[in-house]
Amino acid sequence: MGLLTGKLGIVFGVANKRSIAWAIAQAWAREGATLAFTYQGERLKDNVEELAGTFGADTIILPCDVTRDEDIASVFAQVGAKFGRLDLLLHSVAFAPREALEGDFLDTSRDAFKVAHDVSAYSLIALARGAAPLMTEGGSIVAMSYYGAEKVIPHYNVMGVAKAALEASTRYLAYSLGPKKVRVNCISAGPMNTLAARGIAGFGDMLKHYEAHAPLKRNVLPDELGATGAFLASNGAAAITGQVIYVDAGYQIMGM
Ligand SMILES: NC(=O)c1ccc[n+]([C@@H]2O[C@H](COP(=O)([O-])OP(=O)(O)OC[C@H]3O[C@@H](n4cnc5c(N)ncnc54)[C@H](O)[C@@H]3O)[C@@H](O)[C@H]2O)c1
Repeated sequence: MGLLTGKLGIVFGVANKRSIAWAIAQAWAREGATLAFTYQGERLKDNVEELAGTFGADTIILPCDVTRDEDIASVFAQVGAKFGRLDLLLHSVAFAPREALEGDFLDTSRDAFKVAHDVSAYSLIALARGAAPLMTEGGSIVAMSYYGAEKVIPHYNVMGVAKAALEASTRYLAYSLGPKKVRVNCISAGPMNTLAARGIAGFGDMLKHYEAHAPLKRNVLPDELGATGAFLASNGAAAITGQVIYVDAGYQIMGM
């Protein structure tokens, strides 16, 4: 029996086969979960249908722009109608305007700050609120973060500030939802070559830097994020909530 046999989950953030959300969704499915997927807009619909379609006819695939409350309401109404309950939610969504990820942090515009925080941090609260009434037997919410939340990573800029808000929101949500036995945790991943990552100036150098300086002398693999996602979703993690778990080949412990 898989770690997640009988569990019902929803995944936000698959864009293509390189997406971290896809790595975690595959691990959740492998461990026995039945999943619903959302995609950001028409542009990504075919990709997500092609990937998620491999899980069979029970898979629900719905559009959801996380900045739109009406999309979020519609997703949870449809998932509630089909699944009747929800156990797992993956938040693997982030965005900041490209110019904010290149220049000087001092030049961050009000608009870039708002967009980055709306898409990348507030959305966790909105999705948790949508999911909570369906998590009638408790649940596990997992969000993706990055070390730029706590240390300065050149070029990461406003996304680092948004990730700090995401991590703090994780703690407040863990407190808010704890009495319902809903756990909320972040995985802080080392750099992975995905669509979102390619928007960060100097991303290739980041991969090389981790390889040279992380204790394990390598970058993290998608399957390793999947395995941690499966663990956090499982009953084995029943007493873990409000945490940021580093899956980064150990990079976070280094001072130099
Ligand atoms: N790639 C890395 O190095 C890395 C490291 C640590 C954390 N993360 C985080 O992992 C998560 C997933 O990113 P990824 O690297 O897999 O890239 P990705 O581009 O595959 O995924 C980002 C997803 O966010 C979605 N998204 C953006 N704006 C949205 C909106 N308004 N509504 C709905 N969805 C929206 C995109 O459609 C996409 O599916 C992000 O939170 C990212 O910050 C990535």
